[in-house]
Amino acid sequence: MKILVIHGPNLNMLGSRKPEIYGRKTLAEINSLLQKRADELGVEIETYQSNHEGYLIDFIQKKAKKAAGIVINPGALTHYGLSLRDALEDTSLPVIEVHLSDIRRREEFRKVSVIAPIARRQISGQGWRGYIAALETLVELAKEAAHGKKARKSS
Ligand code: DQA
Repeated sequence: MKILVIHGPNLNMLGSRKPEIYGRKTLAEINSLLQKRADELGVEIETYQSNHEGYLIDFIQKKAKKAAGIVINPGALTHYGLSLRDALEDTSLPVIEVHLSDIRRREEFRKVSVIAPIARRQISGQGWRGYIAALETLVELAKEAAHGKKARKSS
């Protein structure tokens, strides 16, 4: 089972970007913690970061067919990235939206997520651990979906 882990704009700066809000871990460190947990769970992950909405969409369109789900921190695209939202929705894959900070307790514009309506869950304000929780949740959801498919086939 392969899970796509996608990081949006400015998340390549983690570690030095407002550590009081986003924590001190770099993106490479978060990806390697995710890899460790994925190994424990027996799933494959493919990580990708871009500062460009179109590149994120290209990646999703290219990789979705062979994936079982998507963990995504869309960065500020969360609040207005309708093309990204469409691309995610078009995959029909379960999507978990992650935010390091608690977007409900920050500026007004961050409280709105255009991704949330098409995501199965939103995990916000748990720092890097939110990514791990998202991966675990997605693996559970993907397993449930696979079992459902099997049960439907045999009935
Ligand atoms: C973020 C929250 C967004 O509002 C912000 O633009 C980010 C990071 C988070 O992880 O808390 O880039 O998605």
